Amino acid sequence: MSDVQESDCEDIHCPPGRDYNTFMQETAGIRQLYEAGVPFFTKEQLQDLSRQLKQAETSDKPEILIKGLEGTEETFEVKTGVTRAGSEPGTEWVLKAPAIEYRTFGFLTSYRAYQMDGFSDLSLRVLHYMELRDEVTKELLPRFRYVVDSVDIITNSFTSCIQAWEASESYAQLQKTVESRENFPLITKIVALALGSMQPRSLDNWDHRSEYQHALALTLRDIVGKRQGETSGNVQCYVQDPAYTEVDKSILKTYDITILEDPDAFVEIDGSTIVLTFAPDVPVRQIVADIARPAMMIWNTCEEERWVHNGREQFILETRNSSQCMHT
Ligand SMILES: C[S@@+](CC[C@H](N)C(=O)[O-])C[C@H]1O[C@@H](n2cnc3c(N)ncnc32)[C@H](O)[C@@H]1O
Repeated sequence: MSDVQESDCEDIHCPPGRDYNTFMQETAGIRQLYEAGVPFFTKEQLQDLSRQLKQAETSDKPEILIKGLEGTEETFEVKTGVTRAGSEPGTEWVLKAPAIEYRTFGFLTSYRAYQMDGFSDLSLRVLHYMELRDEVTKELLPRFRYVVDSVDIITNSFTSCIQAWEASESYAQLQKTVESRENFPLITKIVALALGSMQPRSLDNWDHRSEYQHALALTLRDIVGKRQGETSGNVQCYVQDPAYTEVDKSILKTYDITILEDPDAFVEIDGSTIVLTFAPDVPVRQIVADIARPAMMIWNTCEEERWVHNGREQFILETRNSSQCMHT
């Protein structure tokens, strides 16, 4: 049981036949692939999925075919807009656009996940998140809505956050680091993932995290562009978060930020990219470790990583601990 965390082995109710020995046998091939250095995510695989997702938007029979690491093939039927009986009287669930589930080595070799769902060799899957709405008016229930819908209010709030950020000590430190560092790599892109919607879900808990994180992306584009002796337009800024609303999109476009659909931002990452991500819901570090070696990654301190094993990801962990979340 050497490479399975103890907390991953608690007994939970699961169908018969999913005992630990069977689990180890069934997942042995996945472990071998990992030890052999086979990437669980590749740009080709993500490009293919992106193409299929776009095709599905206009297809009469929208389906996505995904190939597993050991050759399994699974077809997902896209059911965007389909409704199901709501959990409250007078309501219905509506399926949102398809989302990608990224399944890391840690997940695929998790005994807990195996106990619940059985074995799978798919490092990518497609699923639908759902929203609850009024059956008649089709209006989303309050907990599925944002409390501020005004472009002007969000724009003003974002502008204030940019000003506060640019007056901060952290901003000055970042600027000094970029300007003074020797051998600064050539940067052509900033790719920011999972910075969240700038629209608050509650006024009491409006923490402006998303706005500050977008302000950081803009800052980097500017100071890196200046350092390289170019206008800021020469460093492109890409963002990806399925949570972006029309309000977010319209504001971000005014800052010349390009909004990409999942998984296209991952595909953009290359050796001249700065990657930014904070508290993502997807395993950004594991995906990036497989598909590219960006010039720099910036992220927030992580909780203890349960799934990390000695292997490719160790590179990431070592750099994380060495330089206060700014890695080159
Ligand atoms: C916990 S929130 C963090 C938001 C923000 N960065 C913060 O610090 O408050 C996780 C974010 O990951 C986003 N996310 C989920 N799947 C994603 C994907 N495939 N690509 C980019 N972002 C994604 C979610 O929409 C959500 O905004």
